[in-house]
Amino acid sequence: MQKNYQQKTLGILGGGQLGRMFIQSAINYNIDIHILDPDFNAPCKSICQEFTQGSLTDYDTVYNFGKNCDVITIEIENVNTDALDALAKEGKEVFPQPHIIKLIQDKRTQKEFYQNKGIPTAEFILTDNKNAVIANKNFLPAVNKLGKEGYDGRGVQVLRSEADLDKAFEAPGLLEKLIDFDKEIAVIVSKNQHGEVKAFPAVECAFHPTANLVEFLFAPAEISEDIENKAKEVALQVIQELDMVGILAVEMFVTKTGEILVNEIAPRPHNSGHHTIEANITSQFEQHLRAVMGMPLGDTSLRSPAAMVNLLGEDGFTGEAYVEGLDEAMSEKGVYVHLYGKKLTKPFRKMGHVTILDDNPEKLKERAHKIKSLIKIKA
Ligand SMILES: Nc1ncnc2c1ncn2[C@@H]1O[C@H](COP(=O)(O)OP(=O)(O)OP(=O)(O)O)[C@@H](O)[C@H]1O
Ligand SMILES: [Mg+2]
Repeated sequence: MQKNYQQKTLGILGGGQLGRMFIQSAINYNIDIHILDPDFNAPCKSICQEFTQGSLTDYDTVYNFGKNCDVITIEIENVNTDALDALAKEGKEVFPQPHIIKLIQDKRTQKEFYQNKGIPTAEFILTDNKNAVIANKNFLPAVNKLGKEGYDGRGVQVLRSEADLDKAFEAPGLLEKLIDFDKEIAVIVSKNQHGEVKAFPAVECAFHPTANLVEFLFAPAEISEDIENKAKEVALQVIQELDMVGILAVEMFVTKTGEILVNEIAPRPHNSGHHTIEANITSQFEQHLRAVMGMPLGDTSLRSPAAMVNLLGEDGFTGEAYVEGLDEAMSEKGVYVHLYGKKLTKPFRKMGHVTILDDNPEKLKERAHKIKSLIKIKA
């Protein structure tokens, strides 16, 4: 007999903060979660039904883990997609589909995909090594990106002029035109097995000037209705062209002339959707659950304007984490603190986030900065 989703076991590759917030949603539907993560102290370790410590990139480890699950999903892209392929062939439901994870693992194939499908993106050249970058010096100013395994800004560098060519990446990557953008926004879209699709409202991301991590996020994005609609359309085009089941975060640039360019995509819950837990009718985590389990998708509307502040490990502190300023922050109305259960802090490690709800967008900005200066993760 076919199982319905209430009887299915869901396996997640990766047991960090995304998995942790995902489990918080799954609990409401009595869904059992199994987790695979290399870290014995992963944030999900003590809150899942079954925890396996092991490598996400090793074929046998991923395959054996998946054998005991009905549905398998990811919270990180760097996983063994051959093992996922084999599991899918044996009838396991693997979402996002393994070939899509593989495509997204490499920024080079991602960019080619946008180009082939007519999805707007910054002009680029593929480069196999440092010499290839140097040979294309006429393309500067540009952003040099590693194809694989770059994240949180590592593997991305700006090459403004010939003087910067010396630091070009030696490994396969690409050169992308440096975009003088007006804003960075993200739209999270989702698709379920029945072909239903939905987009969350666009959010605006503000990056940490040196750490290259999202520092603040504001929802809704301060953009015109026209640009908002265009951004949603592009994000939906991406998920439809991929024919992907699950949730997909689409990072985009809004140029000074109002153009939308896709920067990169992530086929999983994403930092740009953390506020949805409190600020939207359905959170991104529940939406991902609904999508991969074949449930109906939920309404994505914003209940209230929101800001999100990432709590990064304070520079200069490494060791057992201590949260400073928590009481003061918690005394404020509409402040929601999320700590990720990481025992050890180090500079710029993502240790938690705070969502702030406020009807007044101007006040939101002020309050976000205040929370940022109030809460410090030290050791
Ligand atoms: N073509 C570009 N022009 C201008 N700025 C860019 C360009 N590409 C990337 N950036 C800047 O660098 C940041 C990081 O780039 P990208 O998102 O490609 O890397 P990443 O390391 O995968 O990021 P993350 O994991 O933080 O999302 C972008 O958010 C943007 O601020
Ligand atoms: Mg990015």
